[in-house]
Amino acid sequence: MLVSATEMLQKARAGKYAVGQFNINNLEWTKAILLTAQECNSPVILGVSEGAGKYMTGFETVAAMVKAMDKSLGITVPVALHLDHGSYDGCYKCIKAGFTSIMFDGSHFPIEENVAKTTELVNVAHQLGLSIEAEVGAIGGEEDGVVGKGECADPNECKQIADLGVDFLAAGIGNIHGVYPDNWEGLSFETLEAVNNAVGEMPLVLHGGTGIPDDMITKAISLGVAKINVNTECQLVFADATRSYIEAGKDKQGKGFDPRKLLAPGFEAIKAKVKEKMELFGSVDKA
Ligand code: 13P
Repeated sequence: MLVSATEMLQKARAGKYAVGQFNINNLEWTKAILLTAQECNSPVILGVSEGAGKYMTGFETVAAMVKAMDKSLGITVPVALHLDHGSYDGCYKCIKAGFTSIMFDGSHFPIEENVAKTTELVNVAHQLGLSIEAEVGAIGGEEDGVVGKGECADPNECKQIADLGVDFLAAGIGNIHGVYPDNWEGLSFETLEAVNNAVGEMPLVLHGGTGIPDDMITKAISLGVAKINVNTECQLVFADATRSYIEAGKDKQGKGFDPRKLLAPGFEAIKAKVKEKMELFGSVDKA
């Protein structure tokens, strides 16, 4: 059931658990995540970066695929189709394509410009029933060519953006996209606490979910994080499972080269990873 992410995240914040945003890249990813959410009776957010949207031939293709798959698989748990790290133009394209949620990443703009553009997009999104996420303090690492330094957000700026009426807020707390380097200092709970105090009941978003130790995830949820984004970890388990299949020579046995067989281990690996994260985040049976 395609819905905006507002209600599921308000419930998560109040119930002290988090909903996973899992980024999709193709049909296998989408099907694996939707089926796992249904099996776990968990709400879920399908994240689409601008790069992944382009890879799948555009946001219209993505929205059509997700809507049709949600229907044909008989998915009854709440599913939000969300633009991840959207540009200003990307947000409008996703609104037009039928997404149910957008993120406007204005974190690289001066705060005044971030405020102006966010205000406009909040109004448009809400008029059409979509939820909207904003970001303060760049998330570090590289995702689809967007490079951030991993700064910690200024709680006052978070309050300023939260007050514009966004539905959930990503605040940089030393998190980065991709695999964390060995010398990573961990999440800044001092920053998270200050942001949480500044924004009241606003559900907070933790980007860069890959590789954050379980105890830090639990602590972050206790401090207001209600949405956790995971992308790289699903890619890594998919690649590992596919490599094992080929290294074992299974693609050379019978019709093992059939993509439905070749991609099956990676598909199952994504399902297992998504289930593990839903259990960790506490969203199982919260649909
Ligand atoms: P990871 O790739 O580090 O899991 O980050 C995902 C993310 O934050 C998407 O916005």
